[in-house]
Amino acid sequence: MTQPYKLLFVCLGNICRSPSAENIMNYWVEQNHLGDRILSDSAGTASYHIGSPPDRRMNAAAMKRGIQLVGRARQFQRSDFEEFDLILAMDKSNYEDILSLDPQGKYHHKVKLMCSFCRTHPDQEVPDPYYGGSEGFNYVIDLLMDACEGLLDAIVKEEV
Ligand code: 4NP
Repeated sequence: MTQPYKLLFVCLGNICRSPSAENIMNYWVEQNHLGDRILSDSAGTASYHIGSPPDRRMNAAAMKRGIQLVGRARQFQRSDFEEFDLILAMDKSNYEDILSLDPQGKYHHKVKLMCSFCRTHPDQEVPDPYYGGSEGFNYVIDLLMDACEGLLDAIVKEEV
């Protein structure tokens, strides 16, 4: 049997956007009965929130779609480049921070912007909702529902 395809979603703190992406991706994977083929995890480029659960405002937005956010924050580490097949950065700053840990560019091909998989949203980045109101958190969920569905389709079609 072939190995499962392993995804790592990365944002700054690993308490808002990337845990949402991880749990939304798991939702789509379960809907499509692909739980033994695609595995997801998430991490932050920063260390501020290591060990913390997802932000309660982010969880409230996800729960409106019937998705509960589970997990604990951890920091991205160099070994993740080997461990994962695809690393999805939520914004361009996360993308640059990840690539800066791979100065030789050996794993550059594994790192992509999450919004490159959006099918209905024109956004290039998942905006950081941390210092804003509830509408920002709701928007992140909408965007990630779209991007994760597009990502799953791309994996199934072996486009990534
Ligand atoms: P995230 O959001 O990167 O989507 O988890 C943030 C969480 C915490 C902070 C910034 C963004 N912070 O500055 O503590």
